[in-house]
Amino acid sequence: MYICICNAITERQVKAAVEGGAHTLSQLQAELGVASCCGTCADTAMDYLPGGQYGSRGTAASQPSGLATLPTEHTTVPAYRAVSASLI
Ligand code: FES
Repeated sequence: MYICICNAITERQVKAAVEGGAHTLSQLQAELGVASCCGTCADTAMDYLPGGQYGSRGTAASQPSGLATLPTEHTTVPAYRAVSASLI
């Protein structure tokens, strides 16, 4: 997944930079160039820093996307289950 469209910087690159010691947005900018054009990606890039949503001290550190935080109502489909059960 791309984090920074302007500079074609991926989530994998951001994670690698953080694992390599980047702990601030300025360090990510210096190392990767993330958030150095329009700046739209700055908040997302900061989510990967330590303490951020996907950072090493965040609650969803091992989750590669926001899927783990989907509300429960999006993970169950009662009507589908009823149809599936009738086909078995
Ligand atoms: S999307 Fe990253 S600088 Fe524009």
